[in-house]
Amino acid sequence: MSHETPASDRPLTTALAEAAAMAGHAPSVHNTQPWRWRVLPDALELHAVPDRRLTATDPDGRLLSISCGTALHHARLALAAEGWMAMVERLPDPDDAQLLARLTGFSRTGADPDAMHMVQCMQVRHTDRRPVSDEPVPTAALGQISSTVAAEGCRLQILDSDQVMELAAAAGHAATVEAEDPQLREELDYWTSRAGTGTGLPPEVLPEQPPQTTVPGRDFGRPGSLPVGPGHDRAAVYGLLYGDEDERDSWLRAGEALSAAWLTATRQGVSVVPLSGVVEVERTRQTLRRLLAGLGHPYIVLRLGIADPAHAGPPHTPRLPVEQVVDTSAVRGGQG
Ligand SMILES: Cc1cc2nc3c(=O)[nH]c(=O)nc-3n(C[C@H](O)[C@H](O)[C@H](O)COP(=O)(O)O)c2cc1C
Repeated sequence: MSHETPASDRPLTTALAEAAAMAGHAPSVHNTQPWRWRVLPDALELHAVPDRRLTATDPDGRLLSISCGTALHHARLALAAEGWMAMVERLPDPDDAQLLARLTGFSRTGADPDAMHMVQCMQVRHTDRRPVSDEPVPTAALGQISSTVAAEGCRLQILDSDQVMELAAAAGHAATVEAEDPQLREELDYWTSRAGTGTGLPPEVLPEQPPQTTVPGRDFGRPGSLPVGPGHDRAAVYGLLYGDEDERDSWLRAGEALSAAWLTATRQGVSVVPLSGVVEVERTRQTLRRLLAGLGHPYIVLRLGIADPAHAGPPHTPRLPVEQVVDTSAVRGGQG
């Protein structure tokens, strides 16, 4: 017989701590996990952690905000799955730049089965940097991914073949610029040599050699141990996630849209690899802006495809222990 307390009877603070822990599965640039959650008696706060920011690669905090936005969306879904509705204030305190979001005003609704399914997807979603298979991405899946992005206030432009060629050139240029900058190389080296710390990228998730693709993936500056095989990206679809503004709160929302897109894709059996080098370099970010024909500001590029089913993909990338990212000191003793 199970003695587990039904979800509806558990205190709010327990649900908040569990949602924050579940948000640890969220993707982040170089697996920096630049977030810390604070559980309060009637609120959940998301703080940025400047120590885990990419100071050279990401001086404006664009990728940090997008990364934290993915965690925010994960936490929102985890609460909805447990039957909690919340109000979300983004950047609620002009005097505290690290406070990115505050969730308050919790009320009970029925547990949301769709959110429950997405929570399952959080636990299987991962970045697979191998080339994709030759199987096309179903149009219906692309439609669902685009709708979920729109529901988070952003848009996804699917690139046509000419635009993919422009993206390929831009990605190559961004890779060259980044490889020639000693500070960027040093930063990448740091985040790809952190085995055993729960952050950064272990060799098992990095390709053992650059895949032969039209659009080059990120050059991590060192070979990993992930076998890539002879595949290509002929059947891949490239999408550009974009929106109206180029400000911190829009980057946070872009992260929420990225999470929504990626979890929906996971549900549809579609693999996603973000390509952020092209937005890190000013000149190539302007190229992407031109691809949007002035319709908005580019946040991140996504490679969408069907992963090779015949070979095992990479393992899951490790995460920081929950105690390091979720602070429950303000409610300790109050959790059921
Ligand atoms: C904002 C952002 C930018 C990213 N940029 C890249 C990228 O340029 N190339 C890449 O291979 N992966 C990229 N990723 C994927 C992360 O490296 C990955 O999410 C992280 O290492 C955690 O691994 P997981 O997704 O397998 O859980 C990015 C992720 C985010 C959220």
